[in-house]
Amino acid sequence: MERWSSRLVFILAAIGSAVGIGNIWRFPMIVGQNGGGAYLIPYFLAVVCLAVPLMILEMAVGRHWRSNLVASFGLAGRKLEVVGWLVCLIVLLILSYYLVITGWTLAYLVFSLLGSSVSFSAFSSSLQPVIYFMISVLVTGVIASLGVNMGIERIVSFMIPFVFLILLALTLFSISLPGFRPGMDFFLRPDYSMLSRPEVWIAAIGQAFFSLSVGMGVLITYGSYLKADADIPQSALIITFFDLLASMLAGMIVFSLVFTFGLEPAAGAELAFSTLPRAFGLMPYGRVFSVLFFALLFSAALTSAISMMEVNVAAIMGQSGASRKRASLFLMILLAGIGAPSALSYSSLDLRFYGSRILDLMDVSVGTVGLSFSALLVAIAFRWFISNDVLAGETHLSRRQLSAVSNLTKYAIPIALLMITVAMIM
Ligand code: PHE
Repeated sequence: MERWSSRLVFILAAIGSAVGIGNIWRFPMIVGQNGGGAYLIPYFLAVVCLAVPLMILEMAVGRHWRSNLVASFGLAGRKLEVVGWLVCLIVLLILSYYLVITGWTLAYLVFSLLGSSVSFSAFSSSLQPVIYFMISVLVTGVIASLGVNMGIERIVSFMIPFVFLILLALTLFSISLPGFRPGMDFFLRPDYSMLSRPEVWIAAIGQAFFSLSVGMGVLITYGSYLKADADIPQSALIITFFDLLASMLAGMIVFSLVFTFGLEPAAGAELAFSTLPRAFGLMPYGRVFSVLFFALLFSAALTSAISMMEVNVAAIMGQSGASRKRASLFLMILLAGIGAPSALSYSSLDLRFYGSRILDLMDVSVGTVGLSFSALLVAIAFRWFISNDVLAGETHLSRRQLSAVSNLTKYAIPIALLMITVAMIM
């Protein structure tokens, strides 16, 4: 069975999964829409009380059984394998539209390198989004087919340090901008009245799970390749720290630019692809910044996409006995088909369903409701159906810490997620 070469590469891979479009594009956008700094309070609470305990549980289960996601569900309960496949399906559906956005980031990286300024509306009314989506599927599939050591490890080892280097460089630059202060004011000054709105809390909890890649079996799969002596709770804290850092730095960069160039802070989904390129067009050395920014977005997106791919590759390999190459090829073909409607919804075809673009529908349905539901299934299966000894044996937490993690995963997480799933469906 495959193993990470060191704990460091495991942490890099898990940070690679966590830090993605969710940090650099979704986080500033959600902060902008939910009234700035006040949103950070429910967000931190959701990260610390809900996402981190589930992250620790997932890693413990992964290392304990050293199995793929479907087999792990099967070990929790004989009839639960089918639930494992359901979670795999949700992950696959999320991946299918995530790769469309990954394609956009690649396209804008190419445009910046070529020095051509292409507006988002021109881009999304051509067939280019489909072509770049197919390239993203291919790249993700090929890396997964190379395996844990030759594929995933090699990519994350150079891309994750690179991601943080760019983030740091862009942050230092953004501090020098005149819009830094008003930007930070908007970003960090709390508007406490927002805290009485349930939708702010729902957005925060959803974003915490999405951003930390928790509740979809990514950490069960990555944890199954972890060496026996690696400290799980400490790894979880390191991964969470870097994920929060990436989100905060991204927020600083984005809002400094937005306020320096007088752009709209709550621009919604087009923030990264139409608002920021306009800022880059106006500043000196804008092309360099634009290349750096889109290289950052693409690297972050790719390493997250790879982790979702690996959940499915490992499940198919383990359950059907297929080789890694065949499992990856099969998933690439499947993804090209499932993701095509999302890709086409932002193309010259403008594919819509009852007036909404398919990609936006996917983000709300599987990306938000589906993810909460899958996190609910993971929390219930691995906390209610298996004994606490697995958690205790793998984590070596003190008695008090153990009972905190254990009660949060047993009661708080299912209650919170159930409420979100019901609220979202209604
Ligand atoms: N955490 C990733 C992001 O922030 C998205 C992701 C979710 C990746 C779930 C893997 C699993 O963009």
